[in-house]
Amino acid sequence: MSDLSGFLTTNAPRFREELFEFLRIPSVSARSEHNADTARAAQWLADGLRKIGLTATIHPTKGHPIVVGEWRGAPQGAQTVLVYGHYDVQPAEPFELWDSPPFEPTVRDNKVFARGSVDDKGQLYLHVKALEAHLAVNGKLPVNIIVLAEGEEEVGSDNLAEFIEKNAKMLACDAVVISDSSMFAPGLPSILSSLRGLAYFQIDVVGPSVDLHSGSYGGAVMNPAMALARMLATMHDADGHVTIPGFYDKVRDWGDAARKAVRALPFDDGHFRAETGSPSLFGEKGYSTLERIWHRPTCEVNGLLSGYTGEGAKTVLPSKAMAKVSCRLVPDQTPQEIEKLMDAHLKKVAPPGVKVSIQHLHGGQPWRADLDGPLFDAARRALSTAFDRAPVVVGEGGSIPVVGDFQRILKAPVLLVGFGLPGENAHAPNEWMSLENFDRGTRAMAALWTELGLTAQRPAT
Ligand code: BES
Ligand code: MN
Ligand code: MN
Repeated sequence: MSDLSGFLTTNAPRFREELFEFLRIPSVSARSEHNADTARAAQWLADGLRKIGLTATIHPTKGHPIVVGEWRGAPQGAQTVLVYGHYDVQPAEPFELWDSPPFEPTVRDNKVFARGSVDDKGQLYLHVKALEAHLAVNGKLPVNIIVLAEGEEEVGSDNLAEFIEKNAKMLACDAVVISDSSMFAPGLPSILSSLRGLAYFQIDVVGPSVDLHSGSYGGAVMNPAMALARMLATMHDADGHVTIPGFYDKVRDWGDAARKAVRALPFDDGHFRAETGSPSLFGEKGYSTLERIWHRPTCEVNGLLSGYTGEGAKTVLPSKAMAKVSCRLVPDQTPQEIEKLMDAHLKKVAPPGVKVSIQHLHGGQPWRADLDGPLFDAARRALSTAFDRAPVVVGEGGSIPVVGDFQRILKAPVLLVGFGLPGENAHAPNEWMSLENFDRGTRAMAALWTELGLTAQRPAT
């Protein structure tokens, strides 16, 4: 281990320069004008995997390509571990709110600021560097490794499940390891026990065929903006409960042990409120803030569009209105079922005089794990070594749609161990990743490969 540690210390400056190169590629998966950049990021990553001694292949999909790296030289009986991450990033807009350009990585305060720094290029790349350390120092890895990196996570991973199904043999493994989340607090390594799922809707409401003079026609026809506002207002009561009939029917009670574990974590509502900048916290009555984010489902408006929103006043009755709405789901809700309930509810509450149409934009299953077994024991030891502190087990309110697919198709346990930090501005202007966490995360993952080398293969099931 000490040789590994020395290698990581000596090469840390080069690792950073390489990460910055990766961050300069604007691989924005949502924007077709960036398709060439996204392809270039896949190429850059595949080259990086080859340079450290893996074989790498790029697999085209209907959307952005999937990169697979492999190294299969471990001794007989050794485990095979699949590392998953994503090389695509969210759009950087609004540009004017960035203190330094989103695709020109800039270091301030031992943090690197750039779009994709923490979500997920920095966290994916630290795995590559942990693999490099073993291969450079020992000429081999303690386990067989598959690196699977996709370019469509930020747009719903539409083509990934099919790829995993078709290539289940190549991707067969004893464990999946993912770093695409955050630590609970600085210096406190964290293992995830849950993710929420997602059901995403676009609701379009159309009334008159064109915008109308609100004096000549106002009062004579249904206003689509008002119709949509009234429909959205039926989704919650004043206590923050979702009032779509059947919404909570499949929600599992997490039990007293889970509630207690959440309460034992160092969490302060005041600090959290300050981080959001909101005047106060609000959410479903009867649950603490962390319970509301981790254990309870939500229904939120993500965007609203209608009528005149420019300078000054314009007396107009809009012809249409649109809302983006998404529900975060918890076990045992499914996106398919929530889509049905939402469709039925909207149909019922749509006022006369407008046409309402609903699109289902994307979905993902919720995930919850019991963290028992050698994979998690190895992770606890590796994280304790690298951070000088034992990890905590935490939930997560966000979604990584492929996690459920890994479990379903490959039947392997999934370890989610993230190195982001609260306040990291993922998906927002001034996204950053702590360079200390980049370094410690690399060390932790190098230690994890060592630990897993001492762990036998999973028995066949
Ligand atoms: N890395 C995030 C998932 C995440 C979010 C982990 C928050 C920890 C905290 C991932 O890249 C992401 O943004 N997922 C999307 C999924 C969607 C695009 C299908 C999300 O949660 O909105
Ligand atoms: Mn991510
Ligand atoms: Mn993301």
